[in-house]
Amino acid sequence: MSETGTADHAGETDLPELVRRAVRAAGRAGFAFSCHPAQGRLLHLLARGVTGGRIGETGTGFGVGLAWLATGAGPGTTLVSVERDRERHAAAAEVFADVPSVTLLHGDWTELAASGPFDLLVVDGGGQGKGDEPPLEPRRWLRPGGCLVVDDFTPMTGWPPVFRGEPDNARLHWLRHKDLLATELRLTPDLATVVARYPGPRS
Ligand SMILES: C[S@@+](CC[C@H](N)C(=O)[O-])C[C@H]1O[C@@H](n2cnc3c(N)ncnc32)[C@H](O)[C@@H]1O
Repeated sequence: MSETGTADHAGETDLPELVRRAVRAAGRAGFAFSCHPAQGRLLHLLARGVTGGRIGETGTGFGVGLAWLATGAGPGTTLVSVERDRERHAAAAEVFADVPSVTLLHGDWTELAASGPFDLLVVDGGGQGKGDEPPLEPRRWLRPGGCLVVDDFTPMTGWPPVFRGEPDNARLHWLRHKDLLATELRLTPDLATVVARYPGPRS
């Protein structure tokens, strides 16, 4: 997510057509929280690693990140995304109307669990553990070997990472999670993402 994400896409010249469609839908609604193009390209790359598997996303928005995922995914991969806002869900449904590999759910992020477990899960609207909400449990949501992406952090400049002058507990939760191998990737000078692999149950 980026406050300038939609505008940032406007400067991009080589976007997949599906991404363009989603960006246009977000633009028509004045939605400024679509994923940043750098994040989109990361999602595209990660989706490439999934063939015949399942990709999930919380927080569809207008489907910009989902479009990057869908255009990157290997053959036979299915994608499911959930959005609680009715109008965003409806607009995204139009964007993906002719993309049979994509299913859009309207509801709370927790409803996505029934479509898992996932090979790649992008947590962008619920489940991050930001604010008061409890974070999702990776071993319930991911297949062994699966990958989790949690977007929209300010790049860390020291340890522990801080947010508004305090230790960033939401980010530390993922970076130190006992079930995950996690790291932070800096995508732009002011945007970072946590990417984590779930190796499977410990023996
Ligand atoms: C950052 S935006 C999503 C951007 C989108 N993933 C993209 O790549 O363009 C977050 C979205 O999550 C949705 N959202 C927030 N809380 C949610 C929840 N509890 N369940 C489902 N969707 C939620 C918001 O309505 C919003 O559309």
